[in-house]
Amino acid sequence: MKTIIPVAGVGIRLRPHTLTKPKVLLNVAGKPMIHHIIEQLIREKITTQIIFVTGYLGNKIEKYIRHTFKFNFKFIVQKEPLGLGHAIHCAKSAFRKKDEVLIILGDTLFNVNLKQLCDNKHSVIGVKKVKDPKRFGVVEKNKKGFITRMVEKPATKQVSPSNSAIVGLYYLKNSDSLFNALDYTINNNIKVNNEYQLTSALEKMLLDKEKMVTYNVNGWLDCGKPETVLETNRYLLNKSKKIYSFKGNIIKYPVSIGKNVIIKNSIIGPYATISDKCKIMNSIISNSIIDKNTKIENKIIKDSIIGENAVINGYEESYNIGDYTIV
Ligand code: UTP
Repeated sequence: MKTIIPVAGVGIRLRPHTLTKPKVLLNVAGKPMIHHIIEQLIREKITTQIIFVTGYLGNKIEKYIRHTFKFNFKFIVQKEPLGLGHAIHCAKSAFRKKDEVLIILGDTLFNVNLKQLCDNKHSVIGVKKVKDPKRFGVVEKNKKGFITRMVEKPATKQVSPSNSAIVGLYYLKNSDSLFNALDYTINNNIKVNNEYQLTSALEKMLLDKEKMVTYNVNGWLDCGKPETVLETNRYLLNKSKKIYSFKGNIIKYPVSIGKNVIIKNSIIGPYATISDKCKIMNSIISNSIIDKNTKIENKIIKDSIIGENAVINGYEESYNIGDYTIV
């Protein structure tokens, strides 16, 4: 089975971080989010090749992955971010026969047993019950459990077929059916919110009599927005048992602290991710992610994401900060 991970999106909701760093390289609980996904895929031994569809800042993603892992990777460029369906279509040339396909969004982590999800004689769509189906692709099922209909971002709760949202994890039995449906969607210019959606192609597959079932994904960790990145950071840190020794400081676990970090007279945690080479002095940091080589002095920081090479001194009130910064 081959896996496609689309990572070509611009990541507007995570600006200013994504102005210089692709979203999937943002640090969550001590590692870039894409690192967590690749680790799981390699560990579960379910895929023969991982195909990344890159675009915006794609060279940085490829460099990190090739430098960090040894596996059968392929990188394919999506020239314009025309939507998830279009991104998956870009990977068509990597499929020669009726391969099985696993699709995982690059900005979503899952606490699921992928082997179990893919152990099905039908195609499988990962879903989770949500309160507000309007923001998602949504599925409707018949009594036998087969999917009968999908709607991408239903305009109102009333027209939504259910509250089972598609979470970004897809196991498709036959790559030919997938790419034929994507060809159809693109050739007929079928767009939702001005993008070619994967859901539209899946709907076409249903019309072509593809049998699909759902798999309930309870551990769905979205990393698309600042608040969900911090939520995912908390979730992953809760699973970590790492202990650190920084004398003269108080460490409130769970935390993740990188290499060559200097901490003096500070309280770190709970839920703080401090990256390599940071210097933290006289400060309190909780529920936050601080990226590499950043210096924080005399400051109480909570619920924050701070990029690389930043300098924050609580006693000073002068700023030298760039576009899209929120203070
Ligand atoms: P999103 O819908 O979250 O888009 O994509 P985005 O660009 O990453 O983020 P925002 O909305 O601007 O904040 C979900 C996944 O699909 C990929 C993204 O890289 C992300 O992993 N994607 C999306 C593509 O590869 N190409 C596209 O055209 C759209």
